[in-house]
Amino acid sequence: MEFKDMQPATLAAQAGGAIDMQSGGVVPSIQPSTTFARDRDYDPLNAANTYARDHNDVVRQAESVLAQLEGGSEALLFPSGMAAVAALFRTVPNGGRVVVQSGIYWGTTKWIREFCERREVEMCEVDASDAEALAGACAEGAAHLVWIESPSNPWLKTVDIARAAEAAHGAGALLVVDGTAATPVLSKPLEHGADMVMHSATKAINGHSDVLGGVLVTRDGHAVWDEIRNDRASAGAVMGPFEAWLLLRGMRTLPLRVERMCQNAMQVAEFLADHPQVEDVLYPGLKSHAGHELAKVQMQGGFGFLMSFLVKGGREEALKVAGRLNLFHRATSLGGVESLVEHRHTIEPHTGIPENLLRISVGIEDAGDLIADLGQALGQ
Ligand SMILES: Cc1ncc(COP(=O)(O)O)c(C=O)c1O
Repeated sequence: MEFKDMQPATLAAQAGGAIDMQSGGVVPSIQPSTTFARDRDYDPLNAANTYARDHNDVVRQAESVLAQLEGGSEALLFPSGMAAVAALFRTVPNGGRVVVQSGIYWGTTKWIREFCERREVEMCEVDASDAEALAGACAEGAAHLVWIESPSNPWLKTVDIARAAEAAHGAGALLVVDGTAATPVLSKPLEHGADMVMHSATKAINGHSDVLGGVLVTRDGHAVWDEIRNDRASAGAVMGPFEAWLLLRGMRTLPLRVERMCQNAMQVAEFLADHPQVEDVLYPGLKSHAGHELAKVQMQGGFGFLMSFLVKGGREEALKVAGRLNLFHRATSLGGVESLVEHRHTIEPHTGIPENLLRISVGIEDAGDLIADLGQALGQ
């Protein structure tokens, strides 16, 4: 059976692929060497490896699994999600133009804004969940990149990827999707016309809150992709072999974890939506969500583990609820096996995020326990 015919559960469970023939191990081995020897004729002993900034077997194995899961032709790993974002945007020439979704992960917006200012790149921010608005922004002039995030963090907005691709291509731009909150298990943006997908692998792809990583996956080779690959090797933003090995191990259970997290999240969302102390729940799995119908088309097998909810009574009440939670750790990040809660206004007070918004990342714990914890924190 060829990789392309395998389901994500099979690809992931055997992440890293074949038996390690040297040891017979059923998991990949780690080769930490930074340099690789040559024979007496000065030929590399292994043609694939010269120096670890360019070459490492376990990094390549992890990249290959990610490319297969996304249905792409190639993947490149970076030492963090932001390093992947930066590697991509550095390909935009000085004085270029980019269209970027508004209300996405604040760290991305902040970095792109600063980058564009430094490099005199025109940055157009637009609510990309409004397909007409995105098309309008793209039609205003030629662009190099269109950057969207679906579902978005922390607003959980859904972007129509196929329409975004049409708009981006019309402006001569590449469409790149941050699919962190969807994971390659639930959504495959390349199939909807995106040119590249980016993930913070720190989140669900690794899933155990113990590896920082980022990945870019391309549908097919193009000049920008070659530039990114060459720049990574020269500038050295590479993932180390130990992190890549941990990532491979994490990915073996990715589909299983995502399935459970989605089931839990759906139950939590329904509980919160019915709770008298909750003003609103932002989760694409709820019928009441503006992007629900689109999410049903673009996501398979669930609607993700990330959601936000608005607590009645404002900032003080929201912080009290967060403070009363016992199972949800009060910590930033998302996608780990453990559930987390975050008061986003404390992190990004100037972005218009409601003061009573709590973002939660639902883990793999027992759904009943999570709901009981939220219930006691909200006051039953
Ligand atoms: C949606 C999204 N994209 C990108 C990033 C950045 O990833 P990293 O923290 O791995 O650099 C994050 C981090 O929270 C994120 O939530």
